[in-house]
Amino acid sequence: MHIIGNYEERLSNFNWNISEKELGYKPGDNINIGWYCSDRICNMGKGDKLALIWEGLGGKEKRYTYNDIRQYSNSIGNFLQGLGVKPEERVCLFLDRIPELYIGFLGILKIGAIAQPLFSAFGEESLHVRLENAETTAIITQKKHLGKVRRIVANLPHLRNIIVVDDNAKSPLQDMEVAFNMDESERIDKFEIYPTKAESPSVLHYTSGTTGMPKGVKHVHYSLISQYLTAQWVLDLKENDIYWCTADPGWVTGTSYGIIGAWASGVTQCVNDIGFSADAWYRFIEKHKISVWYSAPTAIRSLMKAGEKVVMNYDLSSLRHLASVGEPLNAEAVIWSEKVFGLPFHDSYWQTETGSIMISNYPGMRIKPGSMGKPFPGIEAAILNQNTYEPIPVGQAGLIGFRPGWPSMMRMYWNNEETYKAKFVNGWYIPGDRAYIDQDGYFWFIGRDDDIINTGGHLVSPFEVESALIEHPAVAESAVVSKPDFVNMEVVKAFVTLKTGYTADEEMELQIMNFIRKKLSPLAMPQEIEFVNGLPKTRSGKIMRRILKAQEWGEEIGDTSSLEDD
Ligand code: WT7
Repeated sequence: MHIIGNYEERLSNFNWNISEKELGYKPGDNINIGWYCSDRICNMGKGDKLALIWEGLGGKEKRYTYNDIRQYSNSIGNFLQGLGVKPEERVCLFLDRIPELYIGFLGILKIGAIAQPLFSAFGEESLHVRLENAETTAIITQKKHLGKVRRIVANLPHLRNIIVVDDNAKSPLQDMEVAFNMDESERIDKFEIYPTKAESPSVLHYTSGTTGMPKGVKHVHYSLISQYLTAQWVLDLKENDIYWCTADPGWVTGTSYGIIGAWASGVTQCVNDIGFSADAWYRFIEKHKISVWYSAPTAIRSLMKAGEKVVMNYDLSSLRHLASVGEPLNAEAVIWSEKVFGLPFHDSYWQTETGSIMISNYPGMRIKPGSMGKPFPGIEAAILNQNTYEPIPVGQAGLIGFRPGWPSMMRMYWNNEETYKAKFVNGWYIPGDRAYIDQDGYFWFIGRDDDIINTGGHLVSPFEVESALIEHPAVAESAVVSKPDFVNMEVVKAFVTLKTGYTADEEMELQIMNFIRKKLSPLAMPQEIEFVNGLPKTRSGKIMRRILKAQEWGEEIGDTSSLEDD
């Protein structure tokens, strides 16, 4: 199943049909990610192999074979069909990282519906805007998150079913709510999988925009072709690997590589829902003999902070390949990991929109610490001039551009064709990041080309936070920018002017922070609120975040010629 060859060789005779052939797919065939991730692996004689090892708090552990995930995803699909869920309807997964999230994802895809995973820490407003925009018809959740759903259900006219996976019958379910216990459900062995084709929609992920509300990124079943091959070639997944992807499926890494790439490759994957601590993470690796680990810079920096000594308490010799994604992986982190694990983290770069890894440090390739590496075979990448959108010479900074046409590219922003179209200029897809290429063809990340804040690998829109801030009764105006942070690289900071009659003190700061945490999410919550008397504005009244940001980062303020008071 595995093709031998180095980066240059694969580059020279690359064709996406290498992936199609490995997966036994021919153009025009049915292609269903749910089937590829479970039934196909069973058909290959690996039904008894472990697909998922799950750990929860308090040492709880559950194990599922490929045959288990095949049958349980059938059961979930069948249950949803029984509720009247139709192909292409959106089914939201609003769950902690529990087995039902992973297996439910396959079940939704098997009936041709669209999976819409959302981070379970989202507050009711974050949840509401995404369910409203997607016109979601069913939501799968847990008792502990039901309160948030109940508070917004009256404002979601398309929502018909609320499925509770851990109902314990202690308090009665309400109208529209129904219990489904996966582990106790009847296993369905024969199930008619909906005949999805390459372009049938599969997953809808929401990502933050600079000016508007979050955008739904629509993916299709054909994305599997990219996700499978990058999992094989970049993450280096092989038959006997025990794999751990630390990302939550509320974000694209957790679906593309925390479900699809992993299970389509037939490896055993480990998932935990125990929160972060260096001890807990190392123990997890040691206990399950994890060999391939895909994580994120913020986690790596947190491990660095915990120190080298704690590493010595564990046997981590099972580790074979380490990769990272989501935000800049600083050179120090790569060097540190090489020192303490004997293995460097391989940085990879991509986006919700690209659906799979675009640029990476390929296994076996010389790593230049701090660089994102080189484009995946079949991906044409360039650095473009920001005015002409023409490629610029080596060493010069500009916008990243990708030539459209790889299998996992988003097909649309949900109900937002205008914004989708604006992402393509001069024949290039523009991800909105700045970088340069060095003499050897390595890409070096510089920064985002917009105001979006990347905190711990998660994108937060300053616009969304500002909109939520002014809903607080004391807030008159606000401007939200990033400020530097060792672990999260950047965190959210808000500048706020208060309405008359309110006092700028610590209590007010905490009250506003809490307000945002509940409304949006813990990630979007400002880590600091600075009360000010006024905000810098352009003559036309637009708040200049750029000035506040430069101040936070100790940078030159740049052109302020359009500033109000100059
Ligand atoms: C944005 C995409 C795709 C996985 C999770 C993030 C930033 C991503 C890197 C990297 C520097 C990176 C970019 C990108 N980003 N990977 N290796 N080095 N920055 O998906 O939420 O859509 O965020 O994250 O700014 O555009 P996402």
